[in-house]
Amino acid sequence: ATKAVILVGGASRGTRFRPLSLDVPKPLFDVAGHPIIWHCLTAISKVPSIQEVYLIGYYEESVFRDFIKDAATEFPNIAIKYLREYQALGTAGGLYHFRDAILKGRPEHIFVLNSDVCCSFPLNQMLQLAQEKDAEAVILGTRVSEEAATNFGCIVSDSHTRRVLHYVEKPESHISNLINCGVYLFSADVLFPSIRSAIKRRTDRPRLGSYRSSENLASSFMIDDDENQKNEVIRLEQDILGDMADSKQFFVYETTDFWRQIKTAGSAIPANALYLQKALQSGSKDLAPPSANIIPPVYIHPSAQVHPTAKLGPNVSVGPRATIDAGARVKESIVLEDAEIKHDSCVLYSIIGWSSRVGAWARVEGTPTPVTSHNTSIIKNGVKVQAITILGKECAVGDEIRVQNCVCLPFKELKRDVANEVIM
Ligand code: GDD
Ligand code: GTP
Repeated sequence: ATKAVILVGGASRGTRFRPLSLDVPKPLFDVAGHPIIWHCLTAISKVPSIQEVYLIGYYEESVFRDFIKDAATEFPNIAIKYLREYQALGTAGGLYHFRDAILKGRPEHIFVLNSDVCCSFPLNQMLQLAQEKDAEAVILGTRVSEEAATNFGCIVSDSHTRRVLHYVEKPESHISNLINCGVYLFSADVLFPSIRSAIKRRTDRPRLGSYRSSENLASSFMIDDDENQKNEVIRLEQDILGDMADSKQFFVYETTDFWRQIKTAGSAIPANALYLQKALQSGSKDLAPPSANIIPPVYIHPSAQVHPTAKLGPNVSVGPRATIDAGARVKESIVLEDAEIKHDSCVLYSIIGWSSRVGAWARVEGTPTPVTSHNTSIIKNGVKVQAITILGKECAVGDEIRVQNCVCLPFKELKRDVANEVIM
């Protein structure tokens, strides 16, 4: 058998996803009409040998309850459980903590997926490569530009055998433009012993203690706590993968399909577009049928109300009970639950938060970023701003108001034109 783990992180993470993560945990944010991790589960459910999936993270127990209940009916062939870390244990620490549960039923292989990536998750192909090469580990890789590469884990591989020769997490200088997509397949026999030796190395050679001043007891206690916490954190990327490249049968499956990280709130827009395009290519019935005013791909929740003269698309998702009135234009955007887009307004490259309202003849817009870019910020007047305009929950944009390249925190009312600002 095979099992899968999705690393969902916890409430202290996803800060770059603000203001959207103030109201929903990032893994449950809707892109292309479904929570981010629903897209991971869709791919997992297509691997016949997987019957069990664990979400590992340090969110409260209740956070994933409803999602898991819904997913159980949508993915009847897989059992989904949430396993909660008592604190952030790192990408390998959580796996190790729950090793008994994961190893139950003696799975041969374990998939590990970062929850904050968007891609086609070619899991069956990774499994096939593992079998062909008799691999102990397979990592999903993709090529990015030289400037982008150092923001990710970098892989040096033998192009002929596809063996991983060298792995460095976010290197300081360029070593390769083949990067870690955050999707792995491990042989169960190798994963846990590798984590155990990393932990052992750490306890054998503990880090130098920090300088303690007796005059400042309070702060030295704080440092102590911090150090303890850090010592328990074990990360796949820094503590495990480099070693695997040196000593194990470690291979890379290179995808030429789409891949993006979902870190900033703005990055939900490219992710939404890529998943919608994928749905369009696969002929998904999820999408709105094309018409004079619907430029595919567009997702409209069945409970949303879109006026027939409103023009939508491409790459638009409209959430439950949202309303879009006559003559409005929506393009490359996400309109969340209960939002109202009034008549003749225009929403471009934006995310309209839950229960927000865009007034009549208003314009809410961001700026397109190049399709190959791994960055949704741009420089305007010498200042770095978000290319995507984001309205948090329950914001209101007045009639005829123009909002350009802004991030707007929840509950704000915009009564004047604004550009390149964070509205707090
Ligand atoms: N359960 C749990 N516990 N999950 C965690 C923890 C933890 O302590 N820390 C991080 N995660 C989860 C995050 O929610 C995310 O899904 C994933 O692990 C990786 O997050 P980060 O640790 O923030 O790493 P990163 O996103 O900066 O970089 C990683 O992903 C890139 C691809 O997106 C690395 O693996 C890079 O090498 C890789 O290129
Ligand atoms: P159309 O010009 O409507 O055909 O859109 P398009 O598919 O060519 O894409 P474009 O990049 O032009 O989309 C944004 C466009 O929407 C703007 O350039 C305007 O032409 C149009 N637009 C702006 N404001 C409004 C509005 O209030 N109502 C409508 N219906 N359209 C608007």
